[in-house]
Amino acid sequence: MTISAAPPVQLLDSRLEVTGGSRLSGHLRVNGAKNSALVLMAACLLSRDTLRLRNVPPLTDITAMGEILAALGVRVTRHGETIDLDGEHISRAAPPYELVNSLRASFFCIGPLLARMGTAQVPLPGGCQIGSRPVVEHVKGLKALGAQVTIEHGVVTASVQGRNRRLKGGHIHLDCPSVGATETLMMAAALADGETVIDNAALEPEVIDLADLLNAMGAKVRGAGTPSITIVGVDALHEADYAVIPDRIEAGTFLLAAAITRSELSIGPVLPEHLGAVITKLEEAGCRLVADGSNLVISAKAITAVDLRTMPFPGFPTDLQAPFMSLLATAKGTSVVVENIFENRLQHVAELQRMGASIRLQGNTACIEGVARLSGAPVHGTDLRASAAMVLAGLCADGVTTVRGLEFLDRGYANLEDKLNAVGARIRRLSDAA
Ligand code: UD1
Repeated sequence: MTISAAPPVQLLDSRLEVTGGSRLSGHLRVNGAKNSALVLMAACLLSRDTLRLRNVPPLTDITAMGEILAALGVRVTRHGETIDLDGEHISRAAPPYELVNSLRASFFCIGPLLARMGTAQVPLPGGCQIGSRPVVEHVKGLKALGAQVTIEHGVVTASVQGRNRRLKGGHIHLDCPSVGATETLMMAAALADGETVIDNAALEPEVIDLADLLNAMGAKVRGAGTPSITIVGVDALHEADYAVIPDRIEAGTFLLAAAITRSELSIGPVLPEHLGAVITKLEEAGCRLVADGSNLVISAKAITAVDLRTMPFPGFPTDLQAPFMSLLATAKGTSVVVENIFENRLQHVAELQRMGASIRLQGNTACIEGVARLSGAPVHGTDLRASAAMVLAGLCADGVTTVRGLEFLDRGYANLEDKLNAVGARIRRLSDAA
């Protein structure tokens, strides 16, 4: 199937009705990682050959990225969870604002476009529900590789001067270990002239996944997963056939679904080393986790309070802070959760309070006193992971929880309600004209 234009926007009141109280049992399949797949897709811009990606999750964000790449001239063909990206005929270095605006990750295009074409104009991604999303580190790094970068009228324009318009290897020290900046700069450096070193690089598994893909395409990247990544630029990259890693955030959400319903579930495939901090906190809270091949089996009975603070990998992931808070709202005792990564990522607190959670909020710290029962209520998921947190809370609440904000949920979870229903949940998707 070739990706076509987006369907017209319909004003629908879409919501999930979650009837709480069911125990879950069985196996939940984890899709490929959204955050990896989005950046790996952008890497197709680096080569004239076709990139085949497998294990790509069926999500609206992936469709949006496909549309952006198609607008740049990439031939995008999707068959189930495999996507072919043929970058032979890149015809534009400027993705259209309307498409970029719908997907922050589209900013990833700037690194590979600049490396391949010597020029790129990408609209600034702007903030989002969870806070401001600066690209200062991305821009600083591109400049260190010899690009001239200006930001005017909301558009970042980057270009390389000189006869062959090729970036030059350089030394970059990131002020903060930004995942997106590390990935953007790795892609830019892959085709640069000479060696690039990125210090204080992000350690996230998605960075390693990108390095593995780039190396499969003929790049020379080493040190991914450590704070210092070295990239020796090559003249060209070639085709590759590559499978995306499992989604550690979806896996974590499923582990929490088992924990919040005090159930036993098998979840996989997972790479447990990607979930170290999450597994530790679940065990601290009283869950039992056992590896079974590529699956993790979790069983949960009583849940006790735990404290956690979000940190860059290998610390506790900010993307699972909201879902974990739903669990802690039902734990025995008082938990303290500190959000250190994004400034506006505690909006789910007010929604959990509507369901009877007892949470005090001060700055970026939430103090959660567990209650015996949450009660179903109409709630709104204010961002992708907050929406998942609401569904989890609904699974254990008394009565029916109606979750709105599905436009966020569908960006990051493939068929969430079908998957959960298959292991015993009771969730209905309703959609009617608003
Ligand atoms: C990625 C993930 C997102 C996750 C986040 C943190 C993707 C598509 N998204 O986002 O799901 O929540 O990592 O794990 O992979 N910062 C700066 N200056 C910069 C760039 C970032 O100060 O130039 C700050 C941000 O404000 C934030 C922190 O660094 O506080 C982390 O941001 P970053 O690692 O860049 O996150 P993303 O790559 O945007």
